[in-house]
Amino acid sequence: MSATRHFLTDLDFTPDEQSKVLDLAAAMKADKYGYQPYAGPQTVAVFFDKTSTRTRVSFHAGIAELGGSPLIINSGESQLGHKESIADSAKVLERMVSTIVWRTYAQSGLEEMAANSSVPVINALSDDYHPCQLIADLLTVREHKGKTAGLIMSYLGDAANNMANSYLLAGVTAGMHVRIAGPEGYLPSASIIAAAQERAALTGGSVTITTDAAAALEDADVVVTDTWVSMGQEDEKEARLKLFTDYSVSTAAMKLAKDDAIVLHCLPAYRGYEIDAEVIDGPQSVVFDEAENRVHAQKAVMAWLMVASGLAEDSRVEL
Ligand code: CP
Ligand code: NVA
Repeated sequence: MSATRHFLTDLDFTPDEQSKVLDLAAAMKADKYGYQPYAGPQTVAVFFDKTSTRTRVSFHAGIAELGGSPLIINSGESQLGHKESIADSAKVLERMVSTIVWRTYAQSGLEEMAANSSVPVINALSDDYHPCQLIADLLTVREHKGKTAGLIMSYLGDAANNMANSYLLAGVTAGMHVRIAGPEGYLPSASIIAAAQERAALTGGSVTITTDAAAALEDADVVVTDTWVSMGQEDEKEARLKLFTDYSVSTAAMKLAKDDAIVLHCLPAYRGYEIDAEVIDGPQSVVFDEAENRVHAQKAVMAWLMVASGLAEDSRVEL
């Protein structure tokens, strides 16, 4: 029997696996209803402890396209995380659904769910990582640049948040030169940097962590940013809007990147703060391709995990 595979952090796919998942996402994009790992229909439970538009809709659509039945459960509608242990919830859910998807706060909750579940558990965003977003982002980079390895990807802004961590870890896994720029005190932790360096040594990618936004942007192929106020940080909003002003993806900042650089943002975006309206609405922006790619990327993640866990069969899904 295969061990169950989960997708809790960007490191859960090896470089080779990540590349195969991206190939699968591209194949699924070209053949929307051609893959049916959840035929039955089998149910996939998708829990939200935080709000969402893209993640919620893309999982619902993707699960349906894979032949399954999406069950979306919002915070406050279930016992998960407050009225019973996460382990007990996992042991119940694994008997009823084929995959568990969860957007939550603490990464430790996802780990406890996965440790007690015989069906795949997928992180739909935690305080520490947003790995599904990165599969979509890398698919978008491949589509617009033809490759990922060797490209310079520069992230500006709150460099201690989930997106910065995921850009760093998934980017080096894809062989990219990842530069992360933010103010002192808002940079990735030492353990994330060490993990990224270890991964980069395998792929030919590299890690640069800096407080110098201009240096990070020089000759960048891919420029990325994210909100300065993540979900759960609303109380710090006023201070945060001042903290990151030197790390805005402004029209002037974009002049430092390559002329053909593309711009990504996971959305929702706050024009005039982390990104200028002229940039996100301009010709270098690919943010709506990126948003659409959430569907294709997550379908590939779900199908790959099901096959790798021995819970579905499809000879087209390479492990
Ligand atoms: N990018 C993203 O995860 O968006 P939502 O918060 O709308 O799901
Ligand atoms: N860093 C943001 C990402 C939103 C998709 C947050 O966690 O709110």
